Amino acid sequence: MSAILPPAERVWWKEPLDRVELLWIVIALVWCLIMFFMMPYWHVYGQQNLANEAYKTSPEAFAKKADEVIAKYKVREEGPQKIPVVKPPAGSDVYLVARLWSWQPILELEAGKSYRIHLMSMDWLHGFSLQPENINIEVHPGYDHVLTVTPTAPGKFSIICNEYCGINHHTMISPLYVVK
Ligand code: CUA
Repeated sequence: MSAILPPAERVWWKEPLDRVELLWIVIALVWCLIMFFMMPYWHVYGQQNLANEAYKTSPEAFAKKADEVIAKYKVREEGPQKIPVVKPPAGSDVYLVARLWSWQPILELEAGKSYRIHLMSMDWLHGFSLQPENINIEVHPGYDHVLTVTPTAPGKFSIICNEYCGINHHTMISPLYVVK
């Protein structure tokens, strides 16, 4: 039977299943289940998927908290735009503000210490992509997205916006420092 012509039997859905058809349905179902259970499995044993939390909040409330952290833990400024570099104490809450087209502040974290990084957008959808690590998070306006992270090695990392957010999307890059 061709897919172009109408079926010989008009009420085709009442036809008995062919064995090959059934086999494919079973294969597809089993594969779906494997993929489904890989998600929790990978989370627990793969040490790869992040454990995230998200809370509803307003841009004003989030910006206020971010400003408080910047005022408290700023160590220097960088670049022509004088973006503050913040070195928060281990275990503390750190706020990273995404907006058209920048990340603020620049974070300086210590290797081997844990931090709670809060992400939020002030305007549109942005993407938090940590390079060269495999970490990708959507950054939404109105949601405080919390990642608990422990940087393992010192170095200079890059935060890149990976959701297209307009004409200067490609410039939405920020360093992230991990020191010893
Ligand atoms: Cu922000 Cu693309």
